[in-house]
Amino acid sequence: MTGTGLVQFDDWVDLYAARVETMRSSAVRDLFAAASRSDIISLSGGMPDIRKLNMQEVAAVAAEAILEEGVAGLQYGDTQGRTQTKELICSLMTDLSINITPDDLTITTGAQQALDLLAKTFINPGDLIITEGPTYLGALQAFSAYQPEVLVIDMDQDGLRTDILAAELAKLGKRQAKYLYTIPDFNNPAGVTMSLERRHELLRLSHEYGFVIIEDDPYGRLRFEGETLPRLRELDDQVVYLGTVSKMFAPGLRTGWVIAPLPIRQKINLVKQGTDLCGSALCQVIVEHYFNNTDWRTTLNSMIEKYRERRDAMLAALAEFFPAEASWTHPAGGFFVWVTLPEYLDTAQLLNVALEKGVTFVPGDGCYPASSGKGKNTMRIAFCYEEAEAIREAIQRLAMVIEERMELYRAFESAAAL
Ligand SMILES: Cc1ncc(COP(=O)(O)O)c(C=O)c1O
Repeated sequence: MTGTGLVQFDDWVDLYAARVETMRSSAVRDLFAAASRSDIISLSGGMPDIRKLNMQEVAAVAAEAILEEGVAGLQYGDTQGRTQTKELICSLMTDLSINITPDDLTITTGAQQALDLLAKTFINPGDLIITEGPTYLGALQAFSAYQPEVLVIDMDQDGLRTDILAAELAKLGKRQAKYLYTIPDFNNPAGVTMSLERRHELLRLSHEYGFVIIEDDPYGRLRFEGETLPRLRELDDQVVYLGTVSKMFAPGLRTGWVIAPLPIRQKINLVKQGTDLCGSALCQVIVEHYFNNTDWRTTLNSMIEKYRERRDAMLAALAEFFPAEASWTHPAGGFFVWVTLPEYLDTAQLLNVALEKGVTFVPGDGCYPASSGKGKNTMRIAFCYEEAEAIREAIQRLAMVIEERMELYRAFESAAAL
């Protein structure tokens, strides 16, 4: 099917590169069209609620950036990003006790581009990389284009199971894992946060076994409760750190950054030249003016309050409506709750029924590499975008869909036992 709904024969099927065969479309992106229907309550997209931004203020900042920066904002820029943008990022990173200079980072087209550039830099077909299970499906998409073998390490409420990781690494013998990709704070999709003890253990293992750690941190500032934990990059300057303005300001500006040791960053810059020459200077000047000239912290804090209210509404509705056989995570920040249903349920199938009832979510299997076969009875539900009342309504509808399926299964089981 094409986007127009017409079936079109693919005359070029024998010409595509092998990497395209292994790529899967993101279930979330596919759901975007459905989610924009006004009768649908979307628990699928990880979209920040930028409807809460003051558009007059953003427009004024954009106009000011264009008028004050002049042609610089409309010209090609440095591959590594504008110096002023990099200085801004350095000052934002001091909030997280990460002290760097503009020479330590490269501006990227969102953190998503950094994921692609890193995969392009490190992965030969068949190389081993490690991810958390479940993990960000956009990362899996970016990595899979370079055809790695992915070792998936389970998580629990304290994040990555470093005991399992240690055991798996010990089994590898001479085989070298290239990198481990982690979202330690408010993981997408699991909503869990890596404990301090495990952060130290992960760093220890990375030195023992010589793999790179990629720390992806889009949600870390969106904390609702509890103590902020040190980022892996704060604890160890060998860690490659990814940041983004997408959840602090607006994803439409497509501005992210990668902090990495110099040799790695030199390779990333080289690869980026071939990818897009440079990021958008216009987006960078707007980002600079927004963070330098507005009270963005107050805006962000009021958004965090909203997200907290919605998280509470979701957890309360889950406790009220979901069956006893289901379990779910309790995120202290970020956008997502991860739900585990009885093993016999397939959430990809449930999605079709849920859509008829006007609710979308992300089936969990997309958050694992396709070959793993994991996650079929899990789902990611996002509380970032819908108002609390709509979230409650959506959870109630979802609970009905799940209950119906479970009843069907029980009826089938008892009929089979006769
Ligand atoms: C874990 C994670 N990494 C990276 C990204 C991509 O972020 P960006 O908008 O900066 O490309 C997302 C977006 O949702 C994400 O959840």
